[in-house]
Amino acid sequence: GDLKARPKPTRDIGKRLAETGNDIAVFWGSQSGVSEAFAERLSREWQSRFALKTLVADLQDYDPEHLAMFPKDKLAVFLVSTYGEGDPPDNATQFCLGLEKMKKNETSLEDLRYLAIGMGNRNYQYYNRTITVIDDILSNLGAKRIGSLGRADESQGTTEEDFMDWKEQVLKPLGQTISLDERPIAYQPTIHVLDVCVDEPTIYMGEPSERALQQTTERVAYNDRNPFAAPIATSKILSSASNRICAHMEFDLSAAPSIRYQTGDHLAIWPLNPENEVARLCRALGLDEDVRKKPIMVESKQGKCDLPSPTTRETLLKYYLEIGALASRDLLILIAQFAPSEEASAALLGLGKNKHAFRNQVASQYLTVGKVLESINSSAGSWSKIPFSLLVESFSRIQPRYYSISSSPIASPRQPTITLAVNSKQLENLDGAKNEERFHGLATNFLLAHDREFRSTSENPISSHESEITDISSGPKYDLAGPRGKLLGGRVYMHIKRSTFKLPIRETVPIVMVAAGTGIAPFRGFVQERARLVELGKPVGKMVLFFGCRDDKTDFLYRDEWKAWKETLGDSFQLVTAFSRQKEQDKVYVQDMLAEDRWRFEVGTLVEDERAAFYICGAASMAREVRSRLVDILAEKRGVSREEADKTVGGKMKKESRYQEDVWG
Ligand code: 2AM
Repeated sequence: GDLKARPKPTRDIGKRLAETGNDIAVFWGSQSGVSEAFAERLSREWQSRFALKTLVADLQDYDPEHLAMFPKDKLAVFLVSTYGEGDPPDNATQFCLGLEKMKKNETSLEDLRYLAIGMGNRNYQYYNRTITVIDDILSNLGAKRIGSLGRADESQGTTEEDFMDWKEQVLKPLGQTISLDERPIAYQPTIHVLDVCVDEPTIYMGEPSERALQQTTERVAYNDRNPFAAPIATSKILSSASNRICAHMEFDLSAAPSIRYQTGDHLAIWPLNPENEVARLCRALGLDEDVRKKPIMVESKQGKCDLPSPTTRETLLKYYLEIGALASRDLLILIAQFAPSEEASAALLGLGKNKHAFRNQVASQYLTVGKVLESINSSAGSWSKIPFSLLVESFSRIQPRYYSISSSPIASPRQPTITLAVNSKQLENLDGAKNEERFHGLATNFLLAHDREFRSTSENPISSHESEITDISSGPKYDLAGPRGKLLGGRVYMHIKRSTFKLPIRETVPIVMVAAGTGIAPFRGFVQERARLVELGKPVGKMVLFFGCRDDKTDFLYRDEWKAWKETLGDSFQLVTAFSRQKEQDKVYVQDMLAEDRWRFEVGTLVEDERAAFYICGAASMAREVRSRLVDILAEKRGVSREEADKTVGGKMKKESRYQEDVWG
């Protein structure tokens, strides 16, 4: 059809609800897809359980001003995540700015009734700030919240549990506002999966998005909707502790001159699911080879479907659906009606409805849907009554995974590098049997498989040293030679995501960097960049890098490179190490080093007198401690209270980009 002829959809949520015949808007603000998936789940559950008319709404498609005219008899729900330093997700940024404006103008929201829950991580300084701010503004402007403000916390891995608790808690107050007639849960598909007859070449076989993407020699723009298939230029294992492998990978962008990156940017990797997980699910569902590869159309009742079509079931399971994620409680409850026996159904309901059972038997072992099904009934095809459409609706879509780039474009313009850690904790299955798989980390294991592939060729032999430190053959297998593999030829789909984690514009400004583990990644780029500048004859500002790892043998990442750069940089570079598991020494963390007299003094002078920029990268729990030590240092240096020093760090320094974090949960 002619796209231009279609009228633009309205940005007025009230109008949109009227147009679609719905009563409840379920807004989501999400970066990684978690809140979006919760919004979909909530909407589907309320539809099937109470026959409520719900509409899932992406916050970026609506303007908050229209909430002032929100119909009295309708409801809004907000599910919004918080990221990084208390920031809203990208798709909620405009909406939040609009709300701030309404707060200034004191726009009345008397008629609005809403429910709200946020997704965050208690390890971060600004825990669940986005939903707190939204709730604050809405209620200040006269809107009425129904039920409590939910705050899901990822720090203990209880996001799922917190969401479920909130969802049940709000039912009582909700029932006092609108009528809730509970019906037995019946599955009503919103997506249709139809077998069709089509020509093989027109079927999606794992392309990252639209068909037009099939890459040609023409100059094309590569972005988050059109990733580039990058060859791997180098891949090596940096370290391998007992249950953790760190690898270094270099991608070759020489065939994509339009892609640029900056020091501190992120590289997004497009992973796929491991073979054993795909096989496990196919086996449980009784999808034999024939059915897996049959052409299907996927159609959504509510408009456009977000999956490519025509395609095959196998393609969906392998490339598009996040089947390797932790099973959700709702899904276990929903599929219980399709269980092969009464006992199997009861077992699923037991896990789905009892949060302790779920935590102990599913979450603690990070069981996927396939693993749960297998553990309850492992005969092939025993779960064949589960409609495929139900799984397609319930699994979230595979999202690209982000890595801090660990090189500088000045030193390595066409070959960005990443530094990754692959955890390989041994987990136990429900029956207590040892589970041989590495877990978890979809993209890291996927990259590790590429690493093995890369180094198994004669040009890039695996050194005896490497085979000694890592069991190269273990870990999940990925179908690197499958349909997408053939499109790719051993390459990896990637795109660059701009970040705000940047070196000062002037290279003479001093910097202090603090990292633990693979948090070192962006700082390798920072130091590499300035070392290169020195080689080019330019003066650079002083750099102090605090790096924490276990000991000087196993996981001292890039040890030889720091030495070489020290030669080049001389006094302008100082590396301070903190070893937490060094033999015959006490445990030392980076924050302990910062608190030592010598470094307290040095950092105080650099930050306060020489206006150095201060950077932290790594785990959130470490970042919080380090920030607190920085506050101590500034309070002492300025003779002010900790509260005041903290305000300076979070306020003025942050605004001037002199305090920056790149932190994960
Ligand atoms: P560990 O020996 O206690 O695991 C990289 O993982 C390094 O970061 C390890 O040396 C690890 O120490 C350390 N680390 C773990 N938690 C930390 C925290 N809260 N603050 C600082 N460093 C931490």
